[in-house]
Amino acid sequence: MRIAELGLAVGQSVEIRGWVLSLRKSGGIRFVVVRDGSGQVQMVLREKDVSPEVWEASAGLAQETAIIARGRCRADARAPSGVEIDLDDVQVVGPSGDYPIQPKEHGVDFLLDHRHLWLRSQRQAAIMRVRSRFEQAIRNWLDHEGFIAADTPILTPSACEGTTTLFETTYFEQKAYLSQSGQLYNEALAQALGKVYCFGPAFRAERSKTRRHLIEFWMVEPEMAFTDLDGCLETVEQMLSYAIGQVVERCPDDLRLLGRDPEELAQVRPPFPRISYDEALGILREQGLEIPWGEDFGAPHEAAISERFKLPVFVHRYPTSAKAFYMKPDPERPEVVLSADLLAPEGYGEIVGGGQRIDDYDLLLRRLHEHDLPQEDYDWYLDLRRYGSVPHSGFGLGIERTLAWMLKLEHVRETIPFPRMLYRLRP
Ligand code: 4AD
Ligand code: MG
Repeated sequence: MRIAELGLAVGQSVEIRGWVLSLRKSGGIRFVVVRDGSGQVQMVLREKDVSPEVWEASAGLAQETAIIARGRCRADARAPSGVEIDLDDVQVVGPSGDYPIQPKEHGVDFLLDHRHLWLRSQRQAAIMRVRSRFEQAIRNWLDHEGFIAADTPILTPSACEGTTTLFETTYFEQKAYLSQSGQLYNEALAQALGKVYCFGPAFRAERSKTRRHLIEFWMVEPEMAFTDLDGCLETVEQMLSYAIGQVVERCPDDLRLLGRDPEELAQVRPPFPRISYDEALGILREQGLEIPWGEDFGAPHEAAISERFKLPVFVHRYPTSAKAFYMKPDPERPEVVLSADLLAPEGYGEIVGGGQRIDDYDLLLRRLHEHDLPQEDYDWYLDLRRYGSVPHSGFGLGIERTLAWMLKLEHVRETIPFPRMLYRLRP
């Protein structure tokens, strides 16, 4: 039985398979706290109730010893899990000794070097459970809304998000790059299937060492035919608030453990506020953080803008010059594009980027040239504008940045099992 389900087993005999967190001895009685990935529970062993062999073996239950324990589940109002187990038997499956991570403060480099073990800690396991729930909820929402899950390639011949962050590799005699985004392929798939999404790793060889940057991160990217910018933003806010609602409903204890009040997250409901880039510049001016029109925001600017709002806020219509080649200029104001970034509250910055794509062949060709991108690599992409081109939009939501905000984490590195960062490829 899993520890999370013990509440249903009061008065029954149970078997728990897990790892020892701690052992405390007090005369003829021993308290063993065990975790199994679903939760943790205290078990009580009394010398008078067990065989001498079991009593003796239990004396050496060091931290992270793997055990199978059998006993009776009893309600205990003082226990965090609401139950305790009176043990009859403990069997050691895998011994442990000198476990490197002790119940004390460790430096983050030490913890990252031991990431394979750090993941066993209560906080890290809670983050991974929330991550799983969040990803699953996104998939469920998209599936329910009729999106087709389409898996786009990781090995690609060309750039999607600018050539400066491409991760180069070899592909037999050719050069190839790890995917920065599945978007361009999604656009082809949206013309085949209407509404699609990809959900996979994205790679950016960015020499950034900030609390928001990973070299390898996960992104969900929906793409919709016959959809404009407004339709795109509605999809973002619906999908995100549904997935957050599922985390609130299914992981309230994990949220509390991580210091996030579930009630607070439950307030994240549509509609999210929408402001233009120009309005955002006005906010920055008021805060003494003025930047020239045309420049993209940095982390301090995004933080200052989001401070004005309780909910995530869309900033739309960025200067054309600051954004990717595929973004559609606003027909009423071609110096801005029909794009939007979603900025998370509390200074966590951009969690979603997206918008409407260029659907006109000639304009797309011109923009490719302006961005110095080799036309032959994008001939297939231009084809999409030659055969039944339609207004279409999509976005990418970064899983790690969104989780860092939801879970009030200092850094994105804790939101992914094995973070890949500028100076970290191991373990
Ligand atoms: O804004 P980005 O670069 O947009 C795209 O890649 C589009 N092609 C997506 C689309 O329209 N289909 O990235 C989208 C999101 C960002 O808002 C951020 O959440 C996340 O991906 N992201 C990163 N997360 C962690 N580390 C990095 N280095 C990231 N770069 C982007
Ligand atoms: Mg972006």
